[in-house]
Amino acid sequence: MPGSTLMTPRVHILGAGGQLAHALVSTMPDIYDKPGRVALYQRKDCDFTDPRSFENDTSLALHPGDIVINCAAYTDVDRAEDDPEGANQVNAQAPAALARLCKKRGAQLIHMSTDYVFSGKDIGRPLETFDSTGATTVYGASKAAGEAAVLEECPNNSVIIRTAWLFTGPLRDSWGLRSNDFVTTIQKLYQVKKKPIQVVDDQFGSPTYSMDLARGIWEVVGRLMQSEELPQILHATNAGTTTWYAFASEIVGLSGGKRGRVMPCSSKDYPTKAERPHWSVLSGASWEDAGLTPLRHWKKALAEALTMGANTLE
Ligand SMILES: NC(=O)c1ccc[n+]([C@@H]2O[C@H](COP(=O)([O-])OP(=O)(O)OC[C@H]3O[C@@H](n4cnc5c(N)ncnc54)[C@H](OP(=O)(O)O)[C@@H]3O)[C@@H](O)[C@H]2O)c1
Repeated sequence: MPGSTLMTPRVHILGAGGQLAHALVSTMPDIYDKPGRVALYQRKDCDFTDPRSFENDTSLALHPGDIVINCAAYTDVDRAEDDPEGANQVNAQAPAALARLCKKRGAQLIHMSTDYVFSGKDIGRPLETFDSTGATTVYGASKAAGEAAVLEECPNNSVIIRTAWLFTGPLRDSWGLRSNDFVTTIQKLYQVKKKPIQVVDDQFGSPTYSMDLARGIWEVVGRLMQSEELPQILHATNAGTTTWYAFASEIVGLSGGKRGRVMPCSSKDYPTKAERPHWSVLSGASWEDAGLTPLRHWKKALAEALTMGANTLE
């Protein structure tokens, strides 16, 4: 590799086996699509339960100006309720160590976070980045602790991006990921169950297409590469607010199925180990105020996502 290439800042994507990391690879701008510009780390390359991952250069070789995008996380919200230590290790302690390493090496950290850091109570308006957090689940509390640790360890070199209700749809299949996001789950349920599908209608949020979010993250990368200052916390979701029921109904309708087969129900009819937030609507103000391109309406994104694979429902 010529010396000049070695000096070019690199982008390091952690959690490369997951949904968002796959979307980042799929949307990578041409300027990064060159040998040595982007490094991908799966769990086997950089294990968040192994403190040595962030102690030396063997796992993660960072140089000044590099940008790390942390997509790795303990994302099983129900399992986390019985495994707080595991969730904390991956979502808080490891990001703290990662942030320390970034500061030491002069790298910048983009750390992904979630609407679950909030209490989920309806405050009558979209949640702003400056609103108080107050997670009610183990997963949410571990992600909030991760945010706090990143801001403490690496205050001048980090950006936290909170998102919500991530979906990918049929593209997951071509990425080799299990088809278990909300879109593919509803499609499967529709085909397997020949009776009404009940979906909760009292939780509100903004479905967010992983590919749209990934394009937004690349825009943030571009801004950081230009040494532009960004707020420490950003919210990024597709535009528009809906419920899981209305989202499911749109999935079925756009896939050629009968919307009437999707029926609304209450969260009380669908208990889960970790209580789901009632209100997950994140405001786009921080994103727009930073001059970043707003993400389109979720319905447009969903329509595109469904064209990415065979999706006709019968
Ligand atoms: N999915 C959503 O609806 C949603 C909503 C809001 C925010 N977010 C946030 O967005 C980010 C990306 O989410 P996603 O949907 O892409 O999640 P995902 O598909 O579950 O991917 C998470 C990745 O983290 C990796 N990981 C888990 N434990 C690890 C460990 N001990 N060491 C190293 N890697 C480990 C997983 O590795 P394996 O592939 O080996 O399992 C997986 O590749 C996360 O920060 C999440 O909290 C997601």
